[in-house]
Amino acid sequence: MKAVILSGGLGTRLRPLTWNTPKSLVPVLNKPFLEHVLRHLKEHGIDEVVLALSNLASSIQEYFGCTNSLDMKIDYVMERSALGTAGAIKNAAEKLSHDSFFVLNGDIFSDLDYSAMLKCHRENNSDVTIALTAVDNPAAYGLVETKGDGRVTRFLEKPRQDEITTNLINAGTYIFEPGVLDMIPTDTEYSTERQLFPSMLASDASVRAFASSGYWIDIGSPEKYRRLNFDLLSGRSGKYGFQNGNEVVTGQAGQVHPTAKLEGPVLLGDNCVVESNAVIMGPAVIGDHCHIGEAATISASVIWPRVTIGNGCKLISSIAADNCVLQSGCEITQAILGNRVKILKNYKLPTGSMVEPKQIIG
Ligand code: GTP
Repeated sequence: MKAVILSGGLGTRLRPLTWNTPKSLVPVLNKPFLEHVLRHLKEHGIDEVVLALSNLASSIQEYFGCTNSLDMKIDYVMERSALGTAGAIKNAAEKLSHDSFFVLNGDIFSDLDYSAMLKCHRENNSDVTIALTAVDNPAAYGLVETKGDGRVTRFLEKPRQDEITTNLINAGTYIFEPGVLDMIPTDTEYSTERQLFPSMLASDASVRAFASSGYWIDIGSPEKYRRLNFDLLSGRSGKYGFQNGNEVVTGQAGQVHPTAKLEGPVLLGDNCVVESNAVIMGPAVIGDHCHIGEAATISASVIWPRVTIGNGCKLISSIAADNCVLQSGCEITQAILGNRVKILKNYKLPTGSMVEPKQIIG
């Protein structure tokens, strides 16, 4: 069985992290996000995927062209310009056989039971099955209203408070019958949530819901991206990630000075150097080839590969993309640094700063 993974969005809400790195490749526990998604599909026997690409397509294709450690068949389709979530599926039509197929928004991490979802789809002879997940604040998402038998009756995108009738939202994972492709216009920007599904309801197609109460998060914003990393570190995301909640896992070929203190949960990548009296307070993820200077303090942060944290720096509740350099004595709190940012000596960055790639500040 095949899955189409939508990986061509601009990822504007995740900027500055996604200016040069597509959302699919942002590292989660030091692996590209999409690798986690692929592994989960493979566990359910889905080992052929079509990546629907547009923005920053070549970096995704290059990565999976060279690194296909999961032994899955990965195919690619490109859009000349982004076709929207349904237009992208139509664009992948020639790669799909005459069988049902999964469609995944490529920015969702979940422990959804794909096998049970497929069983439900087949038992009900549905045209489309939509996975639903319960969230605390549905206002920011697309609500899906259903009848008792699981038939979808209404879609409501980003509802006002007085319109909220359910906490079940569209979980961004679907099963399509191949005939649904005929309902999507060719080479036209078209949305699954706003156009295709409502038009299917209007034409009496069988659109069903499959509700799931497992772990679910989309990595659409920096805060949720950081949360996914921390949930995985602390064992809050079901069977994935660390299990006991306070492990310290160090990669290969690194050097951690005996006076450095690492308090879990911490994941330290390969070839990292942690100098004397540095303190890393979990939850924290540190990418490969990072250098943490003497008496530097890091807590509740995600650091991508090849980052230098100078002596005495403090990096608190922040994200630093690859190749950032924090010179000695800097203080960074609740900030998001794009890649190759340089913060000069002793500079205290205003709390909550978002710094575009390659900026030199201080
Ligand atoms: P924002 O710009 O922050 O809204 O992010 P986004 O561009 O990723 O959009 P959104 O979160 O709505 O997209 C959900 C999923 O669909 C993501 O995995 C996107 O990569 C993907 N996606 C969105 N638009 C397109 C598109 O036009 N083409 C393709 N191939 N994928 C898309």
